[in-house]
Amino acid sequence: VWSLLLCGLSIALPAFVRADVCKVISMPNETTSVDGPFAFNCTYPPLTSGEVNITWYKNSSRIPISKHSESRIHQDQTWILFLPFALEDTGIYQCVIEGRNSCHRIHLNLSVHKKYWCNGSRNGLLNLSEEYKQILHVGDDGSLTCHLIFPESCVFDLIKWYKDCEEIKGERFTPLRAMLTVNNVSVEDGGNYACKARLKHMGKTYTVLNGITVNTTERTGYGGNIPKIIYPKNNSIEVLPGSTLIVDCKIIDMRDNTNLRCWKVRNTLVNDYYNESGRVREGIEDPVRFREHISYTVNITFLEVKMEDYDLPFMCHAGVSTAYIILKLPVPDFRAYLIGGLLALTVVAVSVVWLYNVFKIDVVLWYRSAFYSPETMEDGKLYDAYVLYPKPHQESQSHAVDTLVLKILPEVLERQCGYKLFIFGRDEFPGQAVADVIYENTRLCRRLIVILVPESPGFGLLKNMSEEQIAVYNALIQDGIKVILIELGKIDNYTAMPESIQYIRQKHG
Ligand SMILES: *[C@@H]1O[C@H](CO)[C@@H](O)[C@H](O)[C@H]1NC(C)=O
Ligand SMILES: *[C@@H]1O[C@H](CO)[C@@H](O)[C@H](O)[C@H]1NC(C)=O
Ligand SMILES: *[C@@H]1O[C@H](CO)[C@@H](O)[C@H](O)[C@H]1NC(C)=O
Ligand SMILES: *[C@@H]1O[C@H](CO)[C@@H](O)[C@H](O)[C@H]1NC(C)=O
Ligand SMILES: *[C@@H]1O[C@H](CO)[C@@H](O)[C@H](O)[C@H]1NC(C)=O
Ligand SMILES: *[C@@H]1O[C@H](CO)[C@@H](O)[C@H](O)[C@H]1NC(C)=O
Ligand SMILES: *[C@@H]1O[C@H](CO)[C@@H](O)[C@H](O)[C@H]1NC(C)=O
Ligand SMILES: *[C@@H]1O[C@H](CO)[C@@H](O)[C@H](O)[C@H]1NC(C)=O
Ligand SMILES: *[C@@H]1O[C@H](CO)[C@@H](O)[C@H](O)[C@H]1NC(C)=O
Ligand SMILES: *[C@@H]1O[C@H](CO)[C@@H](O)[C@H](O)[C@H]1NC(C)=O
Ligand SMILES: *[C@@H]1O[C@H](CO)[C@@H](O)[C@H](O)[C@H]1NC(C)=O
Ligand SMILES: *[C@@H]1O[C@H](CO)[C@@H](O)[C@H](O)[C@H]1NC(C)=O
Repeated sequence: VWSLLLCGLSIALPAFVRADVCKVISMPNETTSVDGPFAFNCTYPPLTSGEVNITWYKNSSRIPISKHSESRIHQDQTWILFLPFALEDTGIYQCVIEGRNSCHRIHLNLSVHKKYWCNGSRNGLLNLSEEYKQILHVGDDGSLTCHLIFPESCVFDLIKWYKDCEEIKGERFTPLRAMLTVNNVSVEDGGNYACKARLKHMGKTYTVLNGITVNTTERTGYGGNIPKIIYPKNNSIEVLPGSTLIVDCKIIDMRDNTNLRCWKVRNTLVNDYYNESGRVREGIEDPVRFREHISYTVNITFLEVKMEDYDLPFMCHAGVSTAYIILKLPVPDFRAYLIGGLLALTVVAVSVVWLYNVFKIDVVLWYRSAFYSPETMEDGKLYDAYVLYPKPHQESQSHAVDTLVLKILPEVLERQCGYKLFIFGRDEFPGQAVADVIYENTRLCRRLIVILVPESPGFGLLKNMSEEQIAVYNALIQDGIKVILIELGKIDNYTAMPESIQYIRQKHG
């Protein structure tokens, strides 16, 4: 009988256990006020991350809570939502999280506490003490938070703050979304606060009323509780004017802190400082909760960076901690400029050299006509140049030399440039001895133009006249006249030339 019984049990037990394999987890008891909206998110960190099915039940009922958004109690995504909560709703609620390989059953004990809200004499029945507790630190800037923890389908507006039944006014208090910032906290700021918000859901409006009991404490040293700003680090950010810039302030703070986190410029909240243009705005803070601390990200958005933003510290505040960013104009890239400059210089230099080579003569002529007048010379000389040229025996070469000496040189140098030439065979007086003519006239010339033709050595240069050679030589040695050699054709062999010519060529090229 015993073994049969055991047998039966061993068969029945697994089936019985399998009927509810879900792991049970108890949430802290929750209390809420009657006639107010209430919502609770079914969330259990390791399980809700993947693909799971979440279903809400009341008590041990097997009928799920309605998912119809019109019904007073319904499931909205992972949330259970009471619009509003009634006295008879108190009890145990369960949400079942079913994953592929897991199942969790979350138990939630919901009960009501009666809320009295200034419905008698002014300082009368205010009994919200069981609700939220927050602490403000005397002497600091702090903030109170209105806990509006509802699903996304609920929208809030018209958040108002009360203290001891009176609406809070004064410049030390600034409502900021779901927060109330309190500047320069004093001991008198402790007391019973309430925040009232209008909730809109499916076209209907409800009123959420949260009581907050505020104690003030003197700070006794900042201990380990001072918020830590991870970024910014008093750094500068290079940004071009006109661009959009978003900077995150990353803060780590203790749980349950009441520190105010914000961006300020010139000691004013950026949203106030730019309240007209809205060009610079603070983002909504985004908290990530951990076991013992909370990490916050508050961003600042510059829709368009303007010149006035540069070199101005934008401060991120978190309680007593501050850190700032400063916008800077990007530093120009020096290497790029250097390379560009060198390239440009090279291009300019190359083109100047090229242009000079192409228009060398025009440039020189232009320079002369512009700045240089031959008449102004007063050195006792009569001519600018003496033209010494050979009389070649070959007909063609003789013709070429005559053309150059008697036509081209006078045309260009004398007529166009205004120089005066002494050309042998044109300017000497008849009957003069050749040597005298050369000797005298070279002394009256500033330059000596010697024209060479490639001719067979047998006929010699310059008619091979020793007088001429001597005259040239003397002129060079005595007067140091400048010599211009013109080679009319390519000359291969200079050794056959007179020594004086070789000397000139060597010296002047
Ligand atoms: C809820 O309240 C009951 C009765 O006061 C108590 O026994 C239980 O421990 C509480 N549960 C939690 C999770 O605090
Ligand atoms: C509600 O819970 C779901 C998972 O169950 C989670 O993804 C979501 O972030 C939670 N919402 C809030 C506002 O905490
Ligand atoms: C459900 O909870 C209500 C209120 O606490 C209680 O009256 C009722 O008996 C419970 N029902 C079940 C089946 O437990
Ligand atoms: C969730 O429910 C749907 C339909 O009820 C089902 O098809 C799906 O497998 C479920 N997913 C999990 C993870 O249980
Ligand atoms: C639920 O919590 C309330 C108070 O928080 C307590 O009085 C009540 O006994 C609890 N119910 C259960 C079933 O634990
Ligand atoms: C205040 O309102 C609550 C319910 O809303 C009521 O029970 C209570 O008697 C009222 N008190 C006064 C002094 O009117
Ligand atoms: C306020 O609540 C406490 C317990 O939560 C209760 O003892 C007290 O009588 C309440 N005061 C008023 C004025 O209702
Ligand atoms: C803060 O308030 C005290 C008086 O409550 C005042 O003496 C002090 O000057 C204030 N500090 C600032 C920075 O306003
Ligand atoms: C607030 O201060 C009162 C006394 O002034 C004290 O009894 C109470 O425990 C304090 N509450 C918190 C949350 O510190
Ligand atoms: C901006 O702030 C000034 C002074 O605080 C105020 O007079 C003005 O009405 C504000 N403008 C807007 C659009 O809020
Ligand atoms: C900045 O904050 C706003 C509001 O909280 C948010 O919508 C936006 O995505 C944030 N931008 C970045 C880049 O984080
Ligand atoms: C940044 O500057 C603020 C105020 O100027 C100073 O309190 C803080 O210590 C500085 N932080 C760093 C990391 O230098």
